[in-house]
Amino acid sequence: DWTTTNVVDEQVELIRQQVGDKQVLCALSGGVDSAVAAALVSRAIGDQLTCVYVDHGLQRSGESDQIEKDFVAATGTRLEVVDAEDQFLGALAGVTDPEQKRKIVGREFIRTFEATARKLDADRHIEFLVQGTLYPDVVESGGGTGTANIKSHHNVGGLPDDLQFSLIEPLRTLFKDEVRELGIALGLPETLVYRHPFPGPGLSIRIIGEVTKDRLEILRAADLIARTELTAAGLDRDIWQFPVVLLADVRSVGVQGDGRTYGHPVVLRPVTSEDAMTADWARLPYEVLEKISTRITNEVDEINRVTVDITSKPPGTIEWE
Ligand code: XMP
Repeated sequence: DWTTTNVVDEQVELIRQQVGDKQVLCALSGGVDSAVAAALVSRAIGDQLTCVYVDHGLQRSGESDQIEKDFVAATGTRLEVVDAEDQFLGALAGVTDPEQKRKIVGREFIRTFEATARKLDADRHIEFLVQGTLYPDVVESGGGTGTANIKSHHNVGGLPDDLQFSLIEPLRTLFKDEVRELGIALGLPETLVYRHPFPGPGLSIRIIGEVTKDRLEILRAADLIARTELTAAGLDRDIWQFPVVLLADVRSVGVQGDGRTYGHPVVLRPVTSEDAMTADWARLPYEVLEKISTRITNEVDEINRVTVDITSKPPGTIEWE
């Protein structure tokens, strides 16, 4: 019968059998699945596991810390952090097209991960790669398994032939809610385990226009306020996702104190959904919207207007790009 203790014990045993005394690699994305998969493997084989976190500089406020500090504290895993912000922002400079942004982030990610994997492999020969594949991913991709291919919805291609690993996929039979229970049982922080889905290209597709460091900072500040107030209202689990979108190329006139302002708008995009295939705009309480709007316009200088997206999916997508 399904209990988290049974699943953990069973998986730990299976992973030990599969791995033996070999070395294992895992890329952490910042999301739930890779973190729980890594925590499970870490429980099984300890420091035969090395995790890699590519910090692309497109995360929301606090998310890198969650991996670099909280995840490591909870699991004791050896973590290699690659600070690649300048590289990603350099590659994204001047780019406004959404699909281009996705391609660039995917390309830079695989490039960086590959270089890191190569370095680690030279240091301690690596045989296995952990992936946080869930049961719905298995069904969707026709059930195959094999050598390494980072999940395609993370927008990265495969690794080159001379750098192929066997896969460890300890979450292959599980659904999302079961993965979350496992994460809690393994001692991961709730904020990580119950994180809303977040796209691989990160905030790059929530800035409408060119992605720059300044714009990322503005968006991060607004996004943090929106998320904080959603949590304070106790609504995290009622909402599927809550993108905040910066219309970086749009300005509108406002008034603040004695002066006129000419700032940017943000769009709040809270949605409810079962699986992200369809979604409805979330009817957030007016008081919560009011708090978010007041705080963002008071606390984030460059933003003088807050709007709410009331489009369902279809016809609107969840993200704006
Ligand atoms: P849309 O915007 O198409 O999003 O309604 C559906 C779900 O997918 C996420 N999303 C992405 N995830 N890479 C990802 O890993 C992407 O390029 C990407 N684009 C959208 C989105 O956040 C939502 O959960």
